[in-house]
Amino acid sequence: MADFQTLRAEPDADGVLTITLDRPDALNALSQQLVAELSKALRLARQPDVKGVVITGAGEKAFAAGADISEFAGMEPLDAHRFAARGQAVFNSIEGLPKPVVAAVNGFALGGGCELAMACHLRVASEAAQFGQPEVQLGLIAGFGGTQRLPRLVGHGVAAEMLLTGARISAQRAYEVGLVNRVVPAEELQATARELVLTIASKAPVAVAMTLQALRAADLPLPQGLQQEAALFAQCAATEDFAEGVMAFLNRETPDFQGR
Ligand code: COA
Repeated sequence: MADFQTLRAEPDADGVLTITLDRPDALNALSQQLVAELSKALRLARQPDVKGVVITGAGEKAFAAGADISEFAGMEPLDAHRFAARGQAVFNSIEGLPKPVVAAVNGFALGGGCELAMACHLRVASEAAQFGQPEVQLGLIAGFGGTQRLPRLVGHGVAAEMLLTGARISAQRAYEVGLVNRVVPAEELQATARELVLTIASKAPVAVAMTLQALRAADLPLPQGLQQEAALFAQCAATEDFAEGVMAFLNRETPDFQGR
């Protein structure tokens, strides 16, 4: 197991890899070291026995309170460009994983923390969680995908308000606008996120991977998105799991998917 200083990456016996951002004294702020370690931890998700990932924050207060502001002083435009591109690449690699990734948002998800949650495939929040993109308050804009993923998730109007005012919204409001899938009491958060991963992992793995790929194509113009959907549908038809799923349905049995 790789040695991490800013996070924990723990696979369990059921194949759920939990990545816990672990800088609670700094509200799990995304230092450059943390982003680098997150990139490394995500490689563990590619192992065949890992069925899916939960990303969460250590402590009760924060999921992640954004990029580490203490690293911003003196940042030049070229550094800033590299910084944003690097964060975006790591978050894209989360979104691009062929297995389910669920954010278990246990507290503040601000700036890069909100962007990290949005790069996950699904989001579960504890009742006390808060979401926001406060970068304008620092003389910046969101740089880890926030200006792009937020409007795609919640629509332009709500995204514009959050990005332009920097105001935080509650978990309940985040649920109402579609930013999170579920809001649960804090003590149920990790179990709910884990169950979501395991529910998805019980389905045909190739079909899950193809669905994730098709969802990414939802950003394309409709005719191209539909073309992609038909191509991915055809790829599923080539799998043994497709035959298994259909036979199991017809025989009223539980399918035994092999992921091929
Ligand atoms: N980067 C670095 N350190 C951070 C941080 C960040 N994004 N967010 C919080 N911290 C640190 C604080 O400096 C403080 O450290 P200290 O105890 O050594 O002074 C510690 O985490 C606790 O934060 P504090 O501000 O004292 O807690 P609070 O309960 O009063 O406020 C927040 C919580 C989240 C509202 C507040 O910390 C905040 O606004 N953070 C910045 C959010 C932000 O702008 N993110 C976008 C960055 S691009």
